[in-house]
Amino acid sequence: MDNIVIVDCGSQFTQLIARRVREMRIHSTVLPWDVSVERVRESAPSGVIVSGGPDSVNDEGAIAVQREILDLGVPVLGVCYGMQLLAKYLGGQVVSGEKPEYGTTPIKREGESRLFKEIPESFDVLMSHGDRVKQVPPEFRAIANTKHGVIAAMESDDGRFFGLQFHPEVGHTQHGSLILRHFLFDVCGCKGDWDLGNWIDRSVGEIRDRVGKGHVVCGLSGGVDSSVAAALVHKAVGRQLECIFVDHGLMRLNEARQVLESYEGLGLSVRHVDASELFLGRLAGVTDPESKRKIIGELFIKVFDEESNKIGEVEWLLQGTIYPDVIESGSKKGSAVIKSHHNVGGLPEHMKLKLLEPLRDLFKDEVREIGRRLGVPAEIVDRHPFPGPGLAIRCLGEITRERLDVLRAADAVFKEELVRAGLYDSIWQSFCVLLPVKTVGVMGDGRTYSEVLALRAVNSADAMTANWTRLPADVLDVVSKRICNEVRGINRVVLDVTSKPPATIEWE
Ligand code: XMP
Repeated sequence: MDNIVIVDCGSQFTQLIARRVREMRIHSTVLPWDVSVERVRESAPSGVIVSGGPDSVNDEGAIAVQREILDLGVPVLGVCYGMQLLAKYLGGQVVSGEKPEYGTTPIKREGESRLFKEIPESFDVLMSHGDRVKQVPPEFRAIANTKHGVIAAMESDDGRFFGLQFHPEVGHTQHGSLILRHFLFDVCGCKGDWDLGNWIDRSVGEIRDRVGKGHVVCGLSGGVDSSVAAALVHKAVGRQLECIFVDHGLMRLNEARQVLESYEGLGLSVRHVDASELFLGRLAGVTDPESKRKIIGELFIKVFDEESNKIGEVEWLLQGTIYPDVIESGSKKGSAVIKSHHNVGGLPEHMKLKLLEPLRDLFKDEVREIGRRLGVPAEIVDRHPFPGPGLAIRCLGEITRERLDVLRAADAVFKEELVRAGLYDSIWQSFCVLLPVKTVGVMGDGRTYSEVLALRAVNSADAMTANWTRLPADVLDVVSKRICNEVRGINRVVLDVTSKPPATIEWE
């Protein structure tokens, strides 16, 4: 099986490169910028792509990929910062600060190149750079330029190294996918035979080999990733897998029951721990978002630990880690903690469990597809992402049972109407947020003074960035009317029209 290694220099588009490669049915592995040449070699790449990044190659302390990666003997494509690194390493010249370009720009090809086969002489590309290659390395030539004379692409005479100053992975670049296709198929010789059906068979075999006769424990949340991971491992080792469903009392309407029924249908062995008293008790009076997250994270670990101690000999911890989690947590230089995430990742040392993460190579939509093939029901596979801390971070201010019930009722209406309008499946994530703000309203002849509810719907590829969804006004109208009429405790509905960045998807 072909594999393309993508070395991540911190660009927000790195995942998109990985996606494009996968779409051409070629396996890709994203590795952080400081990866060793040995690790890249182990991945047996057919080619390497060095991504863009925010640094400037001439600055001290700038991201510097191991030079030896260029000597592996496989083709290398540098994108944006990656191209500048190639130029610097191989003897070209990169200048900073002159003519920065952001946005779509026409470029013109120069001479012939395998990358630009069947592509017009001139086409538009997305540029986003401050630095540029002023002089290509010896035995290289420019293969495209902008009208300002900036080198837009270069190629080595031996046809092994390529640089693109623009981003072929984004939709704004015309023929971008074709350019990548030429690199992957014509230059690297990939075959495009990566397939999810084979993936399941191979993965099941690997899990059996690794786990042997050992026992596996898994924290199920009702979410897509943990559920699919559990279904996969169940297929591999059957009853050696024991699942724990910690009900923190912060699930949506009827969710705990539905999820448990689905798990039963899959034949999973699930221990249901109703810990809602404990969680809600500890959360009483807490309003600070980070405190909520910390309390829930710690309690979750405590409950999970206690319950798994009852199981007996357990050797493995199964986690539904997926690819974006791996990339996001592994490759950025000193990024700020925006929110502390509640995941089973922080289990205490004394549990001494070995980690099993069979989905860590897959993107969300691939996980969904695997889930479907394994028979995981649609209501789990197609549901919108739901955060570990649940409704606690959507019930702003103090968390009480009453306020949670109000939020649950409103959220159920919103979902029902999105499903009815045929919109639910095309939205990445949608939910309601209850605000600790009271406003005056009028109902019948009376004055009301109740809390405000915000509707949130976003579209995204990976939750790292997101755009607010333009929901039809008619649908919003029905949702608003129904919520104000049917849900006591809300007399005003507002819509969140903020993308990420600058906002985050969840409000806390
Ligand atoms: P934000 O709010 O950071 O969320 O834009 C990005 C995505 O992550 C989800 N999210 C979480 N998922 N544990 C999770 O498993 C968490 O603590 C958590 N917080 C946010 C969020 O719903 C969105 O899909």
